[in-house]
Amino acid sequence: MQWGSRHSQLFFFLSTGVGCYAREVLVPEGPLYRVAGTAISISCNVTGYEGPAQQDFEWFLYRPEAPEAALGIVSTRDTRFSYAVFGPRVAAGEVQVQRLRGDAVMLKITRLQAQDAGVYECYTPSTDDRYLGSYSSKVELRVLPDMLQVSATSPGPRGRQAQTSPTRLTVHEGQELALGCLARTSTQKHTHLAVSFGRAVPEAPVGRVTLQEVVGLRPDLAVEAGASYAERLAAGELRLGKEGAERYRMVLGGAQAEDAGTYHCTAAEWIQDPDGTWSQIAEKRAVLAHVDVQTLSSQLAVAVGPGERRIGPGEPLELLCNVSGTLPPPGHHAAYSVGWEMAPAGAPGPGRLVAQLDTEGVGSLGPGYEGRHIAMEKVASRTYRLRLEAAQPGDTGTYRCLAKAYVRGSGARLREAASARSRPLPVHVREEGVVLEALAWLAGGTVYRGETASLLCNISVRGGPPGLRLATNWWVERPEDGELSSSSTQLVGGMDQDGVAKLGVRPGGGPVSVELVGPRSHRLRLHSLGPKDEGVYHCAPSAWVQHTDYSWYQVGSARSGPVTVYPYMHALDTLFVPLLLGAGVALVTGATILSTITCCFMKRLRKR
Ligand SMILES: *[C@@H]1O[C@H](CO)[C@@H](O)[C@H](O)[C@H]1NC(C)=O
Ligand SMILES: *[C@@H]1O[C@H](CO)[C@@H](O)[C@H](O)[C@H]1NC(C)=O
Ligand SMILES: *[C@@H]1O[C@H](CO)[C@@H](O)[C@H](O)[C@H]1NC(C)=O
Repeated sequence: MQWGSRHSQLFFFLSTGVGCYAREVLVPEGPLYRVAGTAISISCNVTGYEGPAQQDFEWFLYRPEAPEAALGIVSTRDTRFSYAVFGPRVAAGEVQVQRLRGDAVMLKITRLQAQDAGVYECYTPSTDDRYLGSYSSKVELRVLPDMLQVSATSPGPRGRQAQTSPTRLTVHEGQELALGCLARTSTQKHTHLAVSFGRAVPEAPVGRVTLQEVVGLRPDLAVEAGASYAERLAAGELRLGKEGAERYRMVLGGAQAEDAGTYHCTAAEWIQDPDGTWSQIAEKRAVLAHVDVQTLSSQLAVAVGPGERRIGPGEPLELLCNVSGTLPPPGHHAAYSVGWEMAPAGAPGPGRLVAQLDTEGVGSLGPGYEGRHIAMEKVASRTYRLRLEAAQPGDTGTYRCLAKAYVRGSGARLREAASARSRPLPVHVREEGVVLEALAWLAGGTVYRGETASLLCNISVRGGPPGLRLATNWWVERPEDGELSSSSTQLVGGMDQDGVAKLGVRPGGGPVSVELVGPRSHRLRLHSLGPKDEGVYHCAPSAWVQHTDYSWYQVGSARSGPVTVYPYMHALDTLFVPLLLGAGVALVTGATILSTITCCFMKRLRKR
């Protein structure tokens, strides 16, 4: 206000072109309140002067007990200006005048003392032709005792005053770190407190440089986070609240390994000067706690039992998995999943999933285990059991338990924080010891086009449990460009262990029938044989056993030798045309054709 009106007065002088300048010396409006032991800077500038641009300044103090006595503090032109009370402090740099411009300076006192209270006068020696305007200006400084207190409160809801040595806190990764700070001031004047929580890396010396702000409450009550914590504040993972008149509480959720360190609370006291600007008049810091973050990966461990297993086929297989470590209980902040993997003996890699329980406790079976009777359950707080109702020889392999720990990050999404695999647990399931053999042949030896080809397959079985059942498939390999290739092997038909027939694709496209003609004797019939049915056929029987859980599993298989099917043309057909020409010629021609076909076919067979 005052500055504004003075300014317009000055502007009036200048604009009227009178050419007379009025010197004016300006210091901030008082009274200023500052706290003993802290620093103060008082600015002073001069306008409307004549003479050199480089003006000199002298600072004086009038103490309340002797308001008439001017004590020289410091001057820009005379190093011997200071009175005895200020001499040593000026010499030590604790009191100094700093030039900002030719016509502006700053008086700085780094550690205010109680006897520094009083009226400060900034005086500018005249360089003007005429004596006009003001040559000095005054501001009052009042020195307040230091009433700011900062300390740690225990993290409990009550917030008791903590012991003097900083506590050591351990939080689990993903959990919440809550720290309390008590900050109060009993300064008589109205002041605001700014409270800031900071972190210094473990073992690092603490200072402004090493201390990284986490979050702070500004004098205007705005909550702001340090640069690297802004995202977590925005996500609601980091919070700062004031509880009651003097308690402040910081909550940092989703603790990460990088959150470890020494936490501090810094309280700053701010006062509003008469000119409206806010000045910090005191600052104090207290150590809140040394915080360790226990990562899940450093803790999660998995053990399996009960050791190497040897069981017979059809017997139940039970494996236990214990998850251990100092882990947070499953709940809002942490979740776990446990599964079993199996690698067949000698197979590389971590194996394939058998069964697992997800973070919600929902079980699922791995690919290839869908039809099996398998249970995965939690039998104790940290013990999980895998049970295969009826083991099969194919279950032989090494089993590992795989546990994963998750923490709930910002946005309530689960993030995998750690995983651990147990040592391998070997499991052996005895083979059934079934020996299968298959003998296949073409009934009648030769077959002509248009007739039905009957292929028979006799199976012999040795060993195996009672109730063993047989299934058989018939396969054909077709000549491609005169060559037989196994890639063209096709299923023609078959019968499963329940006696249900299944049909594949017949090369010639006609009807197929499969049936059981004896207890261990299967038959495949290809009706209305055509030239496209030519090929090498075989039967592939398999032996099956049904377990108590009603699942079937294969205990043996075999493959018969090859059976060649060549649909001959009828001799009559080949003879029909030549007969018209003459029986003698016809007989010779027919015999030649017949022997050619036979010869070529035999050659083809030999080529195999
Ligand atoms: C001169 O000092 C006064 C009081 O400290 C301040 O408000 C003003 O901005 C200063 N003027 C200049 C030009 O520095
Ligand atoms: C798993 O924990 C249970 C109970 O805590 C214990 O009896 C069992 O021996 C443990 N098994 C393994 C393999 O560590
Ligand atoms: C095939 O089995 C049937 C009936 O089981 C039997 O009569 C026949 O002699 C067997 N044939 C051969 C070649 O083993």
